[in-house]
Amino acid sequence: MENRRNILMDCDPGIDDAAALCVAAAHPEAFRILGISTVAGNQTIETVTENALRLTQFFGLDVPVAQGAKVPLTRPAKTAADIHGKNGLGDVEIPKTDRKAVSDNAVVFLRDQIMGLPKGERVTLVPTGPLTNIALLLKVFPEVRERVEEIVLMGGGACKGNVTPVSEFNIFADPEAASIVFESGLPVVMCGLDVTGKCGVDRETAKELAGSGKKIARAVGSMIQFYLNSPAYRNRPAAYVHDAATFLYLLHPEIFRGERMPVSVDCSDGITRGMTICDARPTRPEGEYHTLVLLDADEKKFLEYLVEAVHMLDARLDG
Ligand code: BDR
Ligand code: CA
Repeated sequence: MENRRNILMDCDPGIDDAAALCVAAAHPEAFRILGISTVAGNQTIETVTENALRLTQFFGLDVPVAQGAKVPLTRPAKTAADIHGKNGLGDVEIPKTDRKAVSDNAVVFLRDQIMGLPKGERVTLVPTGPLTNIALLLKVFPEVRERVEEIVLMGGGACKGNVTPVSEFNIFADPEAASIVFESGLPVVMCGLDVTGKCGVDRETAKELAGSGKKIARAVGSMIQFYLNSPAYRNRPAAYVHDAATFLYLLHPEIFRGERMPVSVDCSDGITRGMTICDARPTRPEGEYHTLVLLDADEKKFLEYLVEAVHMLDARLDG
């Protein structure tokens, strides 16, 4: 167990946040989850926090959950109920829990978890929602910086958008926060739309999972089917399980390809607000770029490892 990574996940569950957490829960040999913080994004802060609490119990994780930012740094919050459903989890009912959030101040919670680590240990931050909490953490408690090994986030795109032609949801939701994170100088792995476009679950696989007699497979498969039935996926063969790219990258970096490059975020009010500007020019200035932009993944392997994680978790919880 010594080689496990310390993990703090910051999320807005969210169908694909749930799938990401399922992957993490399936691999206790790789991840030591110190806690989960929530941020308003796919749904309101109250809903995503309730979802995180229910999911930890459902996935057999005994980890604290802290509630985070209700709104982005400078703008009102916008949800994505059209894609994630009224309950944020594709209207799939995850059993209720008595668990309560340990704090309603995720930024202090994250600081305490990080600074409480034994000397010499560091943490990997895995944000899969808007970056509001993480930006506040880095600004308010800069002492955490040296204890952060890397930030493996889902967000952005080198050449793609989903909310606008050029902006991805998590970054568009709070570009000011995203800018703070990308400008922080900390090592960042950006799992953006270029790579998550290769991280799909096809209709057949989703149906098989949903029809399984096993509770994790049934829930994950049914959530992905909700995605596939949403207007965003009409006539498309597969649904992207964006957030799961983060933990699958940590588990299997060999199936991903990326390039280090400078990334800046457009915080203007223009039509490119929220765009992650990735400088892939061969003529860009030379430098040690701290952001690895993932650009490609082995689609078949991604699906294989995702499905494997779902079945592994079912088997462990059954036994
Ligand atoms: C991202 O936006 C959210 O809707 C998903 O959970 C994912 O984090 C994809 O653009
Ligand atoms: Ca998310």
